[in-house]
Amino acid sequence: MRRRILAAAAGAALAISMAACSGEGAGGGGNTGDSKPGDLTIGVSMPTQTSERWIADGNSVKEKLEAKGYKVDLQYAGDDIPTQSQQVDQMITQGADALIIAAIDGTALSGQLQAAADAKIPVIAYDRLIRDSPNVNFYVSFDNYKVGVAQANALLVGLGLQNKDGSKGTATGPFNIELFAGSLDDNNAHFFFSGAMDTLKPFVDAGTLKVKSGQTKIEQIAILRWQQETAQRRMEDLLTSSYNDGSKVDGVLSPYDGISRGIITALQNAGYGSGAKKLPVVTGQDAEIASVKLINDGIQSSTIFKDTRLLAEQAAIAGEAFLQKKEPQANDTKTYNNGVKVVPSFLLPVQTVYKDDIKPVLVDSGYWTAEEVAAGQAKS
Ligand code: GAL
Repeated sequence: MRRRILAAAAGAALAISMAACSGEGAGGGGNTGDSKPGDLTIGVSMPTQTSERWIADGNSVKEKLEAKGYKVDLQYAGDDIPTQSQQVDQMITQGADALIIAAIDGTALSGQLQAAADAKIPVIAYDRLIRDSPNVNFYVSFDNYKVGVAQANALLVGLGLQNKDGSKGTATGPFNIELFAGSLDDNNAHFFFSGAMDTLKPFVDAGTLKVKSGQTKIEQIAILRWQQETAQRRMEDLLTSSYNDGSKVDGVLSPYDGISRGIITALQNAGYGSGAKKLPVVTGQDAEIASVKLINDGIQSSTIFKDTRLLAEQAAIAGEAFLQKKEPQANDTKTYNNGVKVVPSFLLPVQTVYKDDIKPVLVDSGYWTAEEVAAGQAKS
């Protein structure tokens, strides 16, 4: 009896997965382009909830799609690669009609993407490019090389080597700096790094900027999973190994606000920011609320604002286009080669935020309220 039930269950499971694979179920292949939005589901796979930005991204994408009438299956993977693979697998077998994915590891989803392609489910890579797969249909992101350029420029402005308009500043240096990069398995980390290094190189070559630790290769400075604690530990190690001779760090290139907060904590624990030992210029990215407060308080120097509301809107527009069996409109068809093909992309511009920009750029646009900035916390 038990064996018969198990066999029946296995048969049903096989039927479901075959239906998904042949596109006969509720999945992408079942949508002929004239289905009602309410009959279509979009799977949204986000990397982690430990960062404000991904929570905001997930919520915005869900809201925008639901406003268009679609059903949304939003999942977070806790920065764990097998969890994300499993969640995407499940979205496919449960008959998602389109997928929007911000990958943890940009190279780890080829199997899932093949299954999606077999079931005719379009895949949109969200902010992070999915690599090594022909089955990425579209990419929505920001101009990630320009993010790196903007971070390097913010470091130069903070040090007084450059003015905000790009003209030469009054400071002459030389300054001691240290460099941080993001997670090596995230395509964006490489774009941020090259944009920043191309901009800083002339100053390093001229001896105006000195990377005292000598660590300038991306492999030496990368922070796995963009983790704050890992960044804090690396900064502590740098202070012990390269600054125990009385010298000071003047600037730190940081690619992401979470990393910046780890760096700042290490510096403060080592006495920076009290007495005559000024905190170095520290850059960032994402305008996370905790960092916006630090910028407001004069502790972090800048961040790069990427408006996740606009990114979510573009993802929803692209998703809807695919569901209506149309091609979404790209504004870049050259930059993002994922190792197999150039993925058509929609790239949004970014904005550098210093203290003076918090009100006009972040508060007046409704991204954060003045109260949230003062508290350093998002109101849920
Ligand atoms: C990157 C993203 C950055 C930052 C980082 C850490 O992929 O482009 O804006 O969010 O991940 O989450």
